[in-house]
Amino acid sequence: MASAPQQKKAPTSAKAQFTVPGLGQQDGSMVAAVLQERLVALIDLGLTLKHVHWNVVGPTFIGVHQMLDPQVDGVLAMVDTTAERIATLGTSPNGLAGNMVTTRSWDDYSLNRALVSEHLGALELVYVNLIKDHRKAIEKVSDADPVTEDMIIQQTAALEQYHWFVRAHLESASGSLSTAGTSTEQQASKAAAASAANGRK
Ligand SMILES: [Fe+2]
Repeated sequence: MASAPQQKKAPTSAKAQFTVPGLGQQDGSMVAAVLQERLVALIDLGLTLKHVHWNVVGPTFIGVHQMLDPQVDGVLAMVDTTAERIATLGTSPNGLAGNMVTTRSWDDYSLNRALVSEHLGALELVYVNLIKDHRKAIEKVSDADPVTEDMIIQQTAALEQYHWFVRAHLESASGSLSTAGTSTEQQASKAAAASAANGRK
């Protein structure tokens, strides 16, 4: 069979030779690079939230199952605005799965089918780490581009509210957190499950 004529590929570059008006080229590239890291984190969060939505089990399953879909919708909207801001700044956004896996600095969410308390404990830690990095991103871009800073601030406010929805399940009336002092998803899920089994006071 005759092979199809080879299409001449246009040279591609992640960075264009322009950015938004009034912003220096170097700043435009720097801000886009910060946003690319946030894009990867937000895509991963959206996938993780759906994974929990599908894999959470136990007597109070339905409350957590239904709580997570509006969070997925909110995070996917952030994914879109982040990617489009990168493109607006003159850089090509990359939201592909392979790129996400090779550029992120963390592993896949570690729980599969698990109890409500276990998932909430692990998910609380996921939000803590992501929100910390979002706040660092605000600091990195604030001098160069207040428009991007404003976008990340708005995202962070929503993410902190989603975090509160998760964390409220792990709080005691006296104001302590069942996952306090944990630093891995496994530790956090075990601590939350042990606390739920004992009955929080
Ligand atoms: Fe669903």
